[in-house]
Amino acid sequence: MQLRSHGLKNVTDGTGLLFGADYNPEQWPEQTWPEDIALMKRAGVNIVTVGVFSWARLQPEEGQWNFGWLDRLLDLLADNGIRVCLATPTASPPPWLGHHYPDSLPTTPDGTTLWYGSRNQFSPSSSAYRAAALAVTSRLASRYAGHPAVAMWHVGNELGQISYDDETAVAFRSWLLRRYGSLDAVNTAWGTAFWSQGYSSWEEILPPRTAPYMHNPTQVLDFHRFTSEALLELFMAERDVIRSRAEQPVTTNLMGFFRGADYFRFAKETDFIGNNHYVDPAQPQSWETAALTHDLCRGLAGGAPWMLMESATSAVSWRGHNVAKDPGALRVDSLSAIARGSDAVCYFQFRQSAFGAERFHSAMVPLAGADTRVFREVCSLGADLQELRLLAGTPAPSRIAVLFDWDSWWASESPDRPSNRLGVMDQLLAYYRPLLRRGHCVEVIHPSSPLGRFDLVLAPSLFLLGEKDAEALGAWVSAGGTAVVGPFSGVADANGHLRSGRHPAVLADMLGVTGEEWRPLANPVRVAFAHEPLEAEALSWSEDLRIHTASASPVASFASGPLSGQPAVVRNNYGKGWSWYAGADLPQSAVAVIIEGALRDARLTSAVAGELPSDVELAQRGDYLFLLNHGDGSRRVELNEHLKAGGPSLDLLSGTTHEAELTLPPYGVLVLKNSHTTEDPTSQQQNGN
Ligand code: GLA
Repeated sequence: MQLRSHGLKNVTDGTGLLFGADYNPEQWPEQTWPEDIALMKRAGVNIVTVGVFSWARLQPEEGQWNFGWLDRLLDLLADNGIRVCLATPTASPPPWLGHHYPDSLPTTPDGTTLWYGSRNQFSPSSSAYRAAALAVTSRLASRYAGHPAVAMWHVGNELGQISYDDETAVAFRSWLLRRYGSLDAVNTAWGTAFWSQGYSSWEEILPPRTAPYMHNPTQVLDFHRFTSEALLELFMAERDVIRSRAEQPVTTNLMGFFRGADYFRFAKETDFIGNNHYVDPAQPQSWETAALTHDLCRGLAGGAPWMLMESATSAVSWRGHNVAKDPGALRVDSLSAIARGSDAVCYFQFRQSAFGAERFHSAMVPLAGADTRVFREVCSLGADLQELRLLAGTPAPSRIAVLFDWDSWWASESPDRPSNRLGVMDQLLAYYRPLLRRGHCVEVIHPSSPLGRFDLVLAPSLFLLGEKDAEALGAWVSAGGTAVVGPFSGVADANGHLRSGRHPAVLADMLGVTGEEWRPLANPVRVAFAHEPLEAEALSWSEDLRIHTASASPVASFASGPLSGQPAVVRNNYGKGWSWYAGADLPQSAVAVIIEGALRDARLTSAVAGELPSDVELAQRGDYLFLLNHGDGSRRVELNEHLKAGGPSLDLLSGTTHEAELTLPPYGVLVLKNSHTTEDPTSQQQNGN
């Protein structure tokens, strides 16, 4: 199996799993550094991210540089065997930049300038900002390329800025010229014949600034694309400066399902995938979003290991009400990332800040010091990661893919949509959750990705789908794959224009069903399954569908309302494969029936007998099965027949053995050696692509 090679391997080959945090010692007197190092060693920390917010310290004024403190810090870390992820400090420009170059500051859609005094106050298209950012990057890279502590480079921080200023308008026009080649082509792509929006010169084109009523949806879609590219260009510009001087891998910290940038584009340009994720302890099921996000990282990394660059040991400080983690939750949250392919557990930050806007944020070392529950849990997790070190570098590919596309997300959540109740993330989670309950991991991939190594592909919400990608999906199903497509998919082309004909026109043959009207619901309607004793209701969404080919049959039909008797869920035998389409927003129990059927079609078996309890996570990495209890009660789990037949399994963390019927204590974790495979040994399936 050909998986993406990745720069993380160069680091983890020497260290094993990475464990650490953002380390911001410029906030503390230098005398505390030796104590920090001692605590790092006690906890088993082997990597720290340094310098993320150090620009004003490194360059207190334009033309003035101050690297002495960083020299001493990196030497100290190197002497103590702690590796450094060295950050360019470009996420938070010093006040002098905004003061001397006000054009570097971003503006909102209504023209308000966002000033310094916080962070992130730059416009991605500002030439003054770029020049200054590249200057500090160049100084850092030249000075520390050969430093023994430096293991990797971290560009900026959570790149996500957006600006509507005049320099951005100029850059947007150039981007449009590159994309479309002419103003006429822009007018066509944007459909400016509607509402008299035709442009007669390039100078008239603007970012979607505050306007009296709804914007042109393609202008908005293109501005999302442009902003994402501008952020990527910033990343690449800094990366190239680093690469011209240094050999260590270069990445940046992504934010999972962040709406502001297309991470499939970033994945192509980074040396490995780094991501930040903050579970919400106030939401008991937020581990599911974490799991999905980790599976996005797995997909971005092409099945190779990735790096959890930031998470929290306990509470964050940026939600309205910042709940602390229960004892044990730190461990289970962190090991969930390892189970799903991360080769690292890192936190924001090592030592809690006493001042500044994040002083209430948890850290590895709380202000109360080392004699604390949090620091004890940190040390014990460090010991766990030592036990798990043999997992470092283990690829984590999956047999199941979820198709996801930022373009489609941007296009489908335009304010002119039929309903704002069919959210992309809600649909993704609805189709992902039944897989979680059966212990299946996925890779979240772009619709243009090769599908050959997958058995089951889910497309829960793909409003915008290109013809080529739709054809490739159809060819893959016809060669023996199984696909599940969620409502309101395959509707629009790359410009967000709706396709003519019965929907989803580009998937009609593969799905064997077509529709003529999207019907958001005023009141819930009943959906009856043909072979399941299930009373399901669609709450917000229905589609007026009819069977299109003889090979298709309804699995469920509307049982009340104007569509009564018409198909709601259709299964089709297409070539050697199977497809499923749901033309309604179904409750979890009904989506589970669809997913269960599709798993059978794909001949994928589960590692558990029945369903997992809703707070238990099961993930397979290499030869190991991770069982993670995210709840505060004990939970029973029964593993499947294959695992039962293998006899008791050894837990890598505790050295104890466990039968296939086992109990997980509250927030308990087991890492069992496993010979189980989710592939049915009788499966002869050979997919193309
Ligand atoms: C983000 C940032 C960090 C810090 C944390 C706090 O992930 O990258 O600098 O602000 O949030 O949770």
